Amino acid sequence: MIKASKYILLLVIIVSCNSKEKTTNSVDYPEKTSLTQFSPELKKSMERGKLVYDDMCITCHMNNGKGVTKAFPPLADSDYLRENQNESILGIKNGMSGEIIVNDITYNSVMTPLGLSNEEVADVMNYINNSWGNKIDNFVTSEKVSEL
Ligand code: HEC
Repeated sequence: MIKASKYILLLVIIVSCNSKEKTTNSVDYPEKTSLTQFSPELKKSMERGKLVYDDMCITCHMNNGKGVTKAFPPLADSDYLRENQNESILGIKNGMSGEIIVNDITYNSVMTPLGLSNEEVADVMNYINNSWGNKIDNFVTSEKVSEL
């Protein structure tokens, strides 16, 4: 009898581990974003932007763009990013500090300057504006970044 309940316990553990794996797989990774809906210019910029993102931003803002609550703000479905495109561009270019509110959560931290060229800033903006379900209609060019 004791033996049997041990097996049942083991079975329950295995089953619960498997179901956990399933939920992590259903996270909306940027790879799943379909690029076919974008103009060739925007598509190329986003592809370059993804490389910049994976290299420079992913450690804080995470693979799924959701950031880390109360430490690193989200870019996926961020009201701040949607409503403050110019401030976001300047932040990525020159760094950002002081109080900002993103989706009702206050952040008062520092994003250090990342040393990106205007072209790289434009590309990564186009990538984050159109990833993880974001649909921010603002094609950013390096000219626009240098104007700001
Ligand atoms: C070392 C961690 C770190 C890295 C790396 C980093 N950020 Fe940030 N980012 C932050 C923090 C912290 C804030 C909030 C700053 C504040 O409180 O004023 C922020 C804010 C932002 C914001 C505005 C707020 C929002 O969530 O909409 C954007 C846009 C942004 N980052 C984009 C990027 C991009 C693009 C990169 C890569 C090129 C990047 N960040 C790299 C930590 C980081």
